[in-house]
Amino acid sequence: MEDRKKKSFKEHVQAIQKRYKNLDAKEGFQNEKEIKAYTLFRTPATQAALKKVFSHLEGKTFKTALELGSGPGSSYPVLKDLFVEKIVYIEKEAGFRRELEDVTWMIRNFLEKFTYPKSDLILFSYSLGELNFEEQIDVLSRALESSEDTIVIVEPGTTHGYDTLMRARDFLIKNEFFIHAPCFHAKSCPKRGVGWCHFSVRLERSKVHRQIKGGTLGYEDEKYCFIIASKKREENKFFTILDAPKVEKHRIRMNLCTPDGQKVFECKANNRELFKTLKKKGWGEMVSSGILSGVDDFKNDLV
Ligand SMILES: C[S@@+](CC[C@H](N)C(=O)[O-])C[C@H]1O[C@@H](n2cnc3c(N)ncnc32)[C@H](O)[C@@H]1O
Repeated sequence: MEDRKKKSFKEHVQAIQKRYKNLDAKEGFQNEKEIKAYTLFRTPATQAALKKVFSHLEGKTFKTALELGSGPGSSYPVLKDLFVEKIVYIEKEAGFRRELEDVTWMIRNFLEKFTYPKSDLILFSYSLGELNFEEQIDVLSRALESSEDTIVIVEPGTTHGYDTLMRARDFLIKNEFFIHAPCFHAKSCPKRGVGWCHFSVRLERSKVHRQIKGGTLGYEDEKYCFIIASKKREENKFFTILDAPKVEKHRIRMNLCTPDGQKVFECKANNRELFKTLKKKGWGEMVSSGILSGVDDFKNDLV
């Protein structure tokens, strides 16, 4: 990218970032250049977070998907990995529309009164938090009516993102949806009042990204929080690792979200097979509740 273009691109990125930081995203994108800048600078991080989130749905397939506030459709490759055959993107900014196989674009404001298309999978990726509380409840209740199976909500891993998710989680539970990840239960979030449940994914930064974002590191950590809920109850098979596990020579300790709240699981090195398995596990990943059952090593003091 030539210097003049890089400078203008950087200015647009900064303007967008400022609005998001000040929670002014409602103002929307100001021009085509901002839309282009947003697409280029956000797509890699969004896709990295979505890949992590959708890993919690491994083994599931969906025929139809709907995304509300799809932006440029960063979710496209991730949805295709779930074998989705038909995708509907609802987005108010026409500048984001691009030719994608099996995608129908609806360029319109999803706050307007109309029925959302029925879909197996409904996604809100970094869009719900842009709405005020009443709007969130309005679009969520309409999404619930159109949902044939699963709803996924992803937000930035900030306290604002977490608060948005907690309100959505309460609403989903009240409306008889079952929470599948990151918590596999309907009890109060164990992080409430003591922190906020969020996760992190590391992704490489290209040279252009480094120059534009002004950083020197060859990577960035995208912080996100999310919720996956479904109309169907499923058997609890996994616990999610809530923070970075503490790995020592003789033991591993990790905070897990369990149906009985947040618990510390401790595995000693002499439990060789389990130790080897858990050593590979990181923050936000799942551990099978099966491999932990029978090993009475849950403690209450958090890592
Ligand atoms: C932060 S961007 C996220 C884009 C995309 N989902 C992603 O993760 O890359 C939020 C998007 O939601 C769209 N949006 C917000 N409110 C909307 C509304 N009421 N109707 C349609 N689109 C909306 C914005 O235009 C923007 O493209």
